Amino acid sequence: MGETMVATELAINGGPKAVERIAGRGEPKVGVAELLSIAERFGFSDQALARLSTAVSDDDLPVGGPHLGRYYGSAKPSMGERFEAAARELFDVKHAYAVCNGTSALHAAMVAVGAGPGTEVICPATGFLATSMAAALTGATPVFCDVDESLQMDPNRLEPLLTERTVAVVPTHHWGFVADLAPIVAIARGHGVKVVEDCAQAPGATYRGQRVGTVGDLGCFSISAYKIIGGGEGGMVVTNDDRLFDRVCQAAEGGGLWRPDRFGPERYPGELFVGANYRMSELESAVNVVQMAKLDGVVGRYRAVWRRIREQLGRYREVVWQKSNDPDGDIGYRLRCFPADHDLGARLTAALRAEGIGAGYRGPEGHPDWHVFCDMFPLFAEHADRCRRELCPVAADLYNRSLGIGLDQWWTPEDCDAVAGGINKVMSALCTRA
Ligand SMILES: Cc1ncc(COP(=O)(O)O)c(C=O)c1O
Repeated sequence: MGETMVATELAINGGPKAVERIAGRGEPKVGVAELLSIAERFGFSDQALARLSTAVSDDDLPVGGPHLGRYYGSAKPSMGERFEAAARELFDVKHAYAVCNGTSALHAAMVAVGAGPGTEVICPATGFLATSMAAALTGATPVFCDVDESLQMDPNRLEPLLTERTVAVVPTHHWGFVADLAPIVAIARGHGVKVVEDCAQAPGATYRGQRVGTVGDLGCFSISAYKIIGGGEGGMVVTNDDRLFDRVCQAAEGGGLWRPDRFGPERYPGELFVGANYRMSELESAVNVVQMAKLDGVVGRYRAVWRRIREQLGRYREVVWQKSNDPDGDIGYRLRCFPADHDLGARLTAALRAEGIGAGYRGPEGHPDWHVFCDMFPLFAEHADRCRRELCPVAADLYNRSLGIGLDQWWTPEDCDAVAGGINKVMSALCTRA
């Protein structure tokens, strides 16, 4: 194209404007095609999708919008803000921050409590790799604390692990059961060390009547599809501490969008430092606002199933049932026991399965599993010495000897009675009544 001739008198001096108007018509950034793509992901039939597509049109949507970003000063609160408000109310906590997954929640919390090179973070020897990996990601050294028969951090083994380098103790509430928080928090406080609760596997569980995540200094949650609530990938940090909250926000949203004046200078020493961007997406938040409202219902159903089964189970000399640190607070979506030896474990499992009960047993040859410290291979490059089996012998032994039966929140009372009856039938045949 040749050079376009325009009037030479500048508009600023009263000449004609070079650009009177833009004729190109934009389409909404997120329109019907995106909506249908989301709907398709939810498995709607072709007929339902077709009906949906005739019901909506790009013309219904404002040009340029909507978008799915969180912080653009929209008139209505963003879904992220609504999710956080719902979390604050449900957990009765001052602050909640929504992030993109549980690992980033833990990483932000670790940064908030000062984890970094030269520091140590104490994690339970059973739980999930994400906890110790988040500590290691800051440059801190993860130190594993052995567990007891609750498969939770054993408070009796905690104190000797604390050093002048320790900045946090991070109990995980493992598989719906709660850690024994009172002694853990007391020991940590006695050493001036923060407690970060990893609640990814137990949202809605309580300890002595208080929701887990609000007992320590910071509570971290995963709200992913693999947890008891959550539709995709999501996470959350809660706290009652203003300064820790600011640090979580800065660690999780280093661009400063969380601040009243984003580009303003530091309001107090230490407010600003290098952070990441772990914001939860609006799509995810929209799902999780709804999921949050379902949490207590889910927990209530699991608890009812667990209790009904647990109350019917007999006691057997060769089997130890997983210890509970708070029978009223546990969610209990997995029934667990420790048979005396691997031969019995294998026989019980086979017999339970034959009865139609979905039992699993790890055994001595169990495949590597990132829920037990000695298998956490991603840590090995820098922290293999911390993962030696002999450092946490109870966890190494109990994890291999654990027989688990997954429970389902939707089981009817009759389903529960049949499962409990089947467990007693098998155990009575293969073990000795205590
Ligand atoms: C105890 C625990 N902590 C943290 C995480 C990490 O959560 P996410 O997968 O959302 O990053 C998980 C996930 O399985 C977990 O079980």
